[in-house]
Amino acid sequence: MTIALESIALPFGQEIRDQFPVLSQEVYGKPLAYLDNAATSQKPLAVIEAMDRIWRCDNSNVHRGVHALSQRATKDFDRARQSVKTLLNAASEMEVVFTKGCTEAVNLVAHSFLRPKLQPGDVILVTTMEHHSNIVPWQILAEEKGAIVLPIPITDEGEVDLEGYADLLHQHPVKMVGLVYVSNSLGTINPAKQMVAMAHSAGAFALVDGAQAGPHIAIDVQDLNADFFTLSCHKIYAPTGVGVLYGKLAHLEAMPPYQGGGDMIRTVSFEKTTYAEVPSKFEAGTPNIGGVIGLGAAIKWLASLSPSPDLRTSLVETMAKIHDHEVGLMRYAADLLSEIPGVQLRGTSKEKAGIVSFTTSFAHPHDLGTILDHEGIAIRAGHHCCMPLMKRLGVPATARASFALYNTAEEAERLAKAVIKAREMMA
Ligand code: ALA
Repeated sequence: MTIALESIALPFGQEIRDQFPVLSQEVYGKPLAYLDNAATSQKPLAVIEAMDRIWRCDNSNVHRGVHALSQRATKDFDRARQSVKTLLNAASEMEVVFTKGCTEAVNLVAHSFLRPKLQPGDVILVTTMEHHSNIVPWQILAEEKGAIVLPIPITDEGEVDLEGYADLLHQHPVKMVGLVYVSNSLGTINPAKQMVAMAHSAGAFALVDGAQAGPHIAIDVQDLNADFFTLSCHKIYAPTGVGVLYGKLAHLEAMPPYQGGGDMIRTVSFEKTTYAEVPSKFEAGTPNIGGVIGLGAAIKWLASLSPSPDLRTSLVETMAKIHDHEVGLMRYAADLLSEIPGVQLRGTSKEKAGIVSFTTSFAHPHDLGTILDHEGIAIRAGHHCCMPLMKRLGVPATARASFALYNTAEEAERLAKAVIKAREMMA
């Protein structure tokens, strides 16, 4: 039964779309329908203009110069950290470490936090739907230490099997649980708060991978209570090359540095080098200044979509609207696709973000991706850096459409029509 278009309330319209110059182009003579937002989101004019301003007016190194340009760049850079603190509802901006992405953030925790604690025979649990970036760093560490990485089972619908998870916590000496908040492949929203509490009750630490949660839901790290949380900023309308590691202050303060170099030291001598306070201790070398300032601009832009004198309130309200918009489109698209003979939806959990994964009996996802591309529709086809999940689903790959606040119901309809066309072509 197809959802009636009129029944979908989409909070955002053309006025948002107009702020994304890249969306107004044609691909193969068709208007671009960009449905690959889980890979990276497009950037609004506010972010593009902020980046342009940096290189034209303020380009300088931060935390190093007494001159005006460096002062301006440093002010914007530090302000971006305050904005991230508010976005995540962290207790202190000292808990916000800039990295080059989620991947580096997980590697940092594996190396500096878990490495000194891990003993032979210890267990690290990760969900079966984890992205490789929340599997492989733990495997490298486990191999070095004689520890074991075990998968937390999931159901056929793509939900974490909480009983299976409880059993694993009960049966093994678990030191760390790595869990994805929102699955990049399926869109499943995991019960992260509950899973963190279960890990803590079993005496384990927990890292929540928020790469796909950041763009879709309001994050509250104090409420989640995870020891660590990671954010991939290019998925929340900011530039590529910037990630965030949130860590509880006591953990970060106790951890040794990850990399040595400039800006992470207090004093250096050949006798004894001492380190800077957190977060600088983990930010060796010249940071991605433009990227971080672009991130600050993206957060300010998100807040501007729900004006309120209080930044946190604005951000929470915007994220709620984004969630409604994307879930509306996701359900509409899933409904249209499920009516096409030979289409099988992958990941049908109750709690989902705006991601539809599917396979068909008539085309390999890569062929489907190419056919859709010629219709002007950009999706991702592949294993989405989740090979263990694909194995669990019994497929080599899926086709994935992922929605953002600028997508429209018409684009969801074009997606379904293009899949019907692909079916006819393959027949
Ligand atoms: N992790 C990104 C994705 O899901 C790149 O496509």
